[in-house]
Amino acid sequence: MKKLFLLIGFLFCSTSVLFAQYTDYNTVKEVSVKNKGVVVSAFPLASEVGAKILHQGGNAFDASIATQYALAVVYPQAGNIGGGGFMVARTDKNKKFVVDFRETAPSKSDIDMYLDADGHADTELSQYGRLAAGVPGAVAGLFEMHQYANLPMAQLIQPAIDLAEKGYALTQDQADLFNRYKDNFVSLNENSIPFVKSTPWKADDILIQKDLAQTLKIIQKKGRKGFYEGHTAELIVKEMKRGNGIISLADLKNYKVIEREPLIFDYKGNEVVTMPLPSSGGILLAQMLRMTAMDGLEDKQLNSPEAVQLIVEAERRAFADRAEYMGDPDFIKDQTQMLISKAYLKKRFANYNPHKATPSSDVGDIITPQSEAKETTHISVLDKEGNAVSVTTTLNGNFGSMVMVSDAGFLLNNEMDDFSVKPGVPNMFGALGGKANAIAPQKRMLSSMVPTVILKDNKPFMVVGTPGGTTIPTSVFQTIVDIIDFDTDVNTAVNAPKFHHQWLPEHVMVEADFPNYTIKALEKKGYTFKKVSKIGRTELILVDKDGSYHAVADGRGDDSVSVE
Ligand code: DON
Repeated sequence: MKKLFLLIGFLFCSTSVLFAQYTDYNTVKEVSVKNKGVVVSAFPLASEVGAKILHQGGNAFDASIATQYALAVVYPQAGNIGGGGFMVARTDKNKKFVVDFRETAPSKSDIDMYLDADGHADTELSQYGRLAAGVPGAVAGLFEMHQYANLPMAQLIQPAIDLAEKGYALTQDQADLFNRYKDNFVSLNENSIPFVKSTPWKADDILIQKDLAQTLKIIQKKGRKGFYEGHTAELIVKEMKRGNGIISLADLKNYKVIEREPLIFDYKGNEVVTMPLPSSGGILLAQMLRMTAMDGLEDKQLNSPEAVQLIVEAERRAFADRAEYMGDPDFIKDQTQMLISKAYLKKRFANYNPHKATPSSDVGDIITPQSEAKETTHISVLDKEGNAVSVTTTLNGNFGSMVMVSDAGFLLNNEMDDFSVKPGVPNMFGALGGKANAIAPQKRMLSSMVPTVILKDNKPFMVVGTPGGTTIPTSVFQTIVDIIDFDTDVNTAVNAPKFHHQWLPEHVMVEADFPNYTIKALEKKGYTFKKVSKIGRTELILVDKDGSYHAVADGRGDDSVSVE
């Protein structure tokens, strides 16, 4: 029956979102194509919006903007207009640049804002509710990216408005997620929000978001000011006043998106174009690639004890540096070039011992508990002209602060928790930090997101990225070495079991299907392991020698590829 409706929907209204009302979405996990652009994102409807925009004459920038707006509607756990993120891009003229639309600390924030009278950190406050929110950067970022786009912004927002107004059908995963977070939504919001209803959500239920549609229409009409000034800004500030929030009208009006130079380095003849500070991601990627190259990673087998040990030890050292040196480069001394220099890394890796685990206390000394729920989302787009766009955006945790701006219909982030709220107190991902990542007004909190584009002979070779908090740099790193060093196919690179080490805690995190023989072999050398269900959701596009595009959407979720 569903199929019949789908067919009718397709025949009679193929340009409307009617067929979005049934969850037998056309989820596509892998595509190979020539002379057409591709979009990979966390949700089929969002990838389809992007591909349609390519078809209408948009380039990769248009497509990524439209996909991001769509994700704010159909993937509300992470897609957003109330959060922030980073774009790493390469244009068809070979310009390489970064759009940094990371949230900033409100002007009323201060270094001790999450400490109680006895100096104890209260991470409930940095993770839940209004005080957890940084000044959102997403909408400003989308307008900055739009300078590189072909089509009018109004056209790029329209599909998201349609999806919010007419509704879309929840997948089973989303229905479960809404049910799981119901109590939080109720306790953290004074007014009712569309994610809460009296009976449990089930797959195929339609989610309609009228207030969000209205806000998107205001942005469509008034541009950037439709979010940062006037009605929407006033609603945000009103929401702050319902609790302990501190974002002001001036914070919103003064929010600055920053166009940056990417971090660029060579890896075995490939030009890696990636995210600089205020994300730690690019530095960690360079450090891990360079440290593992010192011990001949390419001679080892994928996920073998030898390869995993080498990678884990590189990850351990890189994450120890993250805690010590990294933060917003506008506030600290930027030590990137020192940290990724071969001379420094040679010294850093000198105590690597292939016969036993290096205790984390040899590179630091603080033990941390493990992280909680988390969500972010990544989009990879490559158009037929060779514009490559890699964007990772986030609310931080699942549904961010879980506070929805009343009458505006969007969630606020809980990105303030990415600061080091107190030296030695881990954030929700177990990451540590100190002075370099301490809170200060207008400062950007340190991130791990690492949207990346890799070029070969000045042409796109790879577009890659993933969500996953601190596991982001390690997943992107593993995907890259799977392709370049282990010569795997694209599907294996995305879907092979991933593993992760972040200096502290001491254990290696592995996906449930990680090979047991490797675990057993490494336990004998002193490593400990913790199984987790899933690490990251990688969206990868790889370009062949003959110019075909191979796109893979991660098998760990509803992620999907769409072709122009
Ligand atoms: O910027 C960061 O590193 C984090 N806020 C990202 C959070 C994240 O990836 C959660 N996703 N699964």
